[in-house]
Amino acid sequence: MTMHRIAVLAGDGIGPEIMAEAIKVLKATGDRFGFELALNAFHVGGAAIDAEGTALPAATLAGCEAADAILFGSVGGPKWEHLPPTEQPERGSLLPLRKHFNLFCNLRPARIHPGLERLSPLRADIAEKGMDILVVRELTGDIYFGSPRGREGEGEQENAFDTMRYSRFEIRRIARMAFEAARKRRSKVLSVDKANVLATSILWREEVIAIAADYPDVELEHIFIDNATMQLLRRPSEFDVMLCGNLFGDICSDEAAMITGSMGLLPSASLNETGFGMYEPAGGSAPDIAGQGIANPVAQILSAALMLRHSLGEIAAADAIDAAVSQALEDGCLTGELVAAGQTALTTAQMGDAIVARISAQQGA
Ligand code: NAD
Ligand code: IPM
Ligand code: MN
Repeated sequence: MTMHRIAVLAGDGIGPEIMAEAIKVLKATGDRFGFELALNAFHVGGAAIDAEGTALPAATLAGCEAADAILFGSVGGPKWEHLPPTEQPERGSLLPLRKHFNLFCNLRPARIHPGLERLSPLRADIAEKGMDILVVRELTGDIYFGSPRGREGEGEQENAFDTMRYSRFEIRRIARMAFEAARKRRSKVLSVDKANVLATSILWREEVIAIAADYPDVELEHIFIDNATMQLLRRPSEFDVMLCGNLFGDICSDEAAMITGSMGLLPSASLNETGFGMYEPAGGSAPDIAGQGIANPVAQILSAALMLRHSLGEIAAADAIDAAVSQALEDGCLTGELVAAGQTALTTAQMGDAIVARISAQQGA
């Protein structure tokens, strides 16, 4: 029987709560589709600071290196915000993991589930037209990693600075990923930039246009980031692939998540050139609801499905999870942030159970 080795990094806040449900679902699909899972848990983020004194312990990194894929929860929270920025969970673990494994390509698929238009906060006539987009976000460059960054000067004159930087190479490789993805979808790429102001965006546009020449079958359009966030609310059904740099992709993907109904619905895959990947919800540790057992586990469960699809070659199992999630949502299984007034909300664990039950029911069908 095939054995998949997975490094499980649950992290902080709602991370462990939603991870438990993803593991439940993974085990159910393993039983059904005939593969074994070696699930090795490691500390990361604030939990690792508390347990081992550092956000990314050597044992965690070694565990990830030995794995076929990384399933990541979320990191960060108020408890660690007093630490120096580079030691905090986000800059001390999540960003270094992305850089270490060269996970330059972040895929964030966001869909208004057909029949679930009512979950969208958009006006009904807009939501009814649907949305099915893929944010392709560059993940290892841009202002997140450019140097120099820091602070200098004193008093009123003290200033802080970050560097937004992209190389031709970095732009080309993410652009290719977007065009390849578009070919498997509706063949449209919308490249998001700020080329009316930023030098990085001017280079970005040049390189995206150059790569487009290899994809004459894919339609390319450019849009400025400010207009993009507006048009996404006005006519989301017209968007297919949104190609974004690191910062703009971060912003557009939260907006896309909310258009589908909740931050807790949006999964993501972060890939390198070999197909190795880290899989995590696009949302964070949600300190406002952590510890209450009410977080939506769907983003984590769909991230596990992306892992089966992109890194482990278990396509049938990934399809089964996607279908079970859609079915559960259609059947009205909803966590607290999605229910309408007067409706009963499922807990995190009940939502996981509802999805597992539908995976088992498919088997019987
Ligand atoms: P967040 O995504 O954690 O929360 C934003 C809002 O979305 C909150 O109201 C939260 O309750 C809601 N939400 C998020 N996930 C949900 C879920 N699964 N179910 C129901 N509701 C959900 O963003 P934030 O509050 O800006 O950040 C909190 C912490 O998380 C910060 O420390 C931040 O740096 C970190 N963060 C981590 C990651 C990551 O680890 N990948 C991603 C984003 C933010
Ligand atoms: C995300 C998060 C991270 C990012 C933070 C926590 C560093 O917001 O994965 O979207 O900005 O990339
Ligand atoms: Mn984000």
